[in-house]
Amino acid sequence: MDAAAIVELLTSPQTRADPYPLYEQAQRLGPVVRVSDTLVLVTGYAAVDRVLRSREFGVFDREANAAVYGDDPETPVWRLLGRSILQANQPDHTRMRAPIAAVFTPRRIAAMRPAVERAVDRLLDGMAEAGRGGAPVDFMDRFAAPLPVGVICELLGIPEADRDRFRGPAHELLGVLEFMSTDLDQAAADRAATELGDYFEQLVAERRARPRADLVSALVELRDREPESAITDTELIGNLALLLAAGFETTTNLLGNGLALLFEHTTVRTALSRGQLPPGDFVEEVLRYDSPVQLTSRLALGDGVAVEGVPVPRLGEVLLLIGAANRDPARYPQPGRFDPWRAEITPLSFGAGIHYCLGAMLARLEATVAFPRLLDRFPTLAPAPGAIRRDRLLLRGYGELPVTLGN
Ligand code: HEM
Repeated sequence: MDAAAIVELLTSPQTRADPYPLYEQAQRLGPVVRVSDTLVLVTGYAAVDRVLRSREFGVFDREANAAVYGDDPETPVWRLLGRSILQANQPDHTRMRAPIAAVFTPRRIAAMRPAVERAVDRLLDGMAEAGRGGAPVDFMDRFAAPLPVGVICELLGIPEADRDRFRGPAHELLGVLEFMSTDLDQAAADRAATELGDYFEQLVAERRARPRADLVSALVELRDREPESAITDTELIGNLALLLAAGFETTTNLLGNGLALLFEHTTVRTALSRGQLPPGDFVEEVLRYDSPVQLTSRLALGDGVAVEGVPVPRLGEVLLLIGAANRDPARYPQPGRFDPWRAEITPLSFGAGIHYCLGAMLARLEATVAFPRLLDRFPTLAPAPGAIRRDRLLLRGYGELPVTLGN
């Protein structure tokens, strides 16, 4: 199979169900392959890492998207996400990321641990209630989705009453980042962008008038203190929507993918529940083996750019298959084996370089708190029939993962 056929197959239902056989075929062609005049496919660990860290490549910002795909930069989704750090290149990226990083600090995240523990225990109580008498419980709906929603909303300062309504829009907003997203995805993302944009506009106004001890108030305060160097109100709203949406489904998928792997690997499960395997090592191997974010892309910002000798024209695209790079045999021996005891697990699942995930520490905190407590609370937790993968490639996870809790 050639590189063009592989890229074509990336969107097939079969690949969405299990992309790894196709990634192996791609890797047989080499870590970096030319697909067409304007597209290069990268599956090698070292090459993906290098592109993400290179200044010669950038993300598709509003202008680039308009130039390459003809996307209208004034659609609701581009007005919102297009003003976030995820879709910005230098110097805008650093200008906007610096104030966000100044309030989204490791200290603030570490201080969230007791709140995360409480949220986990509350959700386990809810599962126990729902699964009484042996009834199957959907782990995604009852635990994996509400945990990250609750935690990020708590951090941002979104009132409890508003939290449930964001699960749908957050999912729909990120649909626009899906590889080869459809018109339907775009329309849903536009609706979600309008809803989230309106919500955050109101929340920013409220916190400006009456600040609280939350992240939105801290960002508004910082912005008003340094109006010329900090981010504009529109950018602030775009970035708040990004923080909300980026923290939802990704972490949800990490929790679901991790539990499914625990069901398959009993030795790992026993070691984790007996405290013989550090939860952090388990979580890193889940991230490597079945990454919640499977791909990203970059474009060449100038002329004369190449990846490992393969030229990329200006505004040409480089498709970076993170899920494949994490299973590159040149980086990990026997990459298709799930082994949390392997040496040096440093997956590319949170990206690398200037766009390295801002929420990595929070996601790790949630997962490392959740898994041991889950196993401790329900020692005979077991899969029930009806597990369904979500029909997406970029964000890989389960739509439903029914379980029984045992006695
Ligand atoms: C397991 C969970 C998560 C995974 C796998 C993940 C993955 C990623 C990846 C791969 C990127 C880089 C995208 C690129 O370079 O094109 C990224 C960026 C980002 N993530 Fe996460 N993420 C997770 C959780 C979170 C959480 C919990 C938050 C927020 C609370 C968050 C906020 C962000 C933000 C704001 C960016 C953009 C950073 C920038 O462009 O400078 N993520 N994430």
